Amino acid sequence: MNIKDKTVSDSKTIMTEMIMPNDTNPLGNLMGGNLMRWMDIAAGVCAAKHAEAHVVTAAVDHVSFDLPIKLGNVITITAQITRAFNSSMEVYVEVQVAEITGANPRKSNHAYFSFVALNESNLKPTKVHKISPQNKIEWDRYNAATRRRELRLVLSGRLKPEEAKEIKEIFSN
Ligand SMILES: CC(C)(COP(=O)(O)OP(=O)(O)OC[C@H]1O[C@@H](n2cnc3c(N)ncnc32)[C@H](O)[C@@H]1OP(=O)(O)O)[C@@H](O)C(=O)NCCC(=O)NCCS
Repeated sequence: MNIKDKTVSDSKTIMTEMIMPNDTNPLGNLMGGNLMRWMDIAAGVCAAKHAEAHVVTAAVDHVSFDLPIKLGNVITITAQITRAFNSSMEVYVEVQVAEITGANPRKSNHAYFSFVALNESNLKPTKVHKISPQNKIEWDRYNAATRRRELRLVLSGRLKPEEAKEIKEIFSN
């Protein structure tokens, strides 16, 4: 495969769902686990499109549930790659909720998902395209992605705290 740079918009993925009775908890709000499943699907489609390969979810960080989402609301989940490393990619997922009429749109959630691309023949991690940011928001997410990566690798025991250079710099300044 030709590993050329790709843009965020090459793989941007948007998913819409209407909240039905089966999606809710006893209070009539969307169950958090159902929302996380949809976020994982949207982010996975985005990552697979970027990688042009099968991907697996390696980590999920910073999921917050800021607003209750009600039966009959419509949610729009937008997934965008922030940065690609060697075989792994970070995907920013944002959820907007609105009435069925489109009225009162507001942000309800966001999270960062990490995916690893796998080679189809041996199911081992495989190299992915780099990201070429095109505007300030994309550059900001791209630059901050290395800090988030260090933090999640330290927390998962894959990186020694003393090797986390960017995080160390934040705390020493
Ligand atoms: C994710 C997985 C493929 C990593 O495999 P591995 O043999 O540990 O691979 P490596 O150590 O070579 O790491 C490969 C990449 O994964 C990244 N990675 C591994 N664990 C990670 C974690 N917890 N968080 C973020 N990235 C992680 C590494 O940083 C590396 O990224 P890079 O290539 O961009 O530098 C493996 O752990 C796996 O298959 N996990 C299960 C995935 C799954 O089934 N998900 C669905 C769960 S319901």
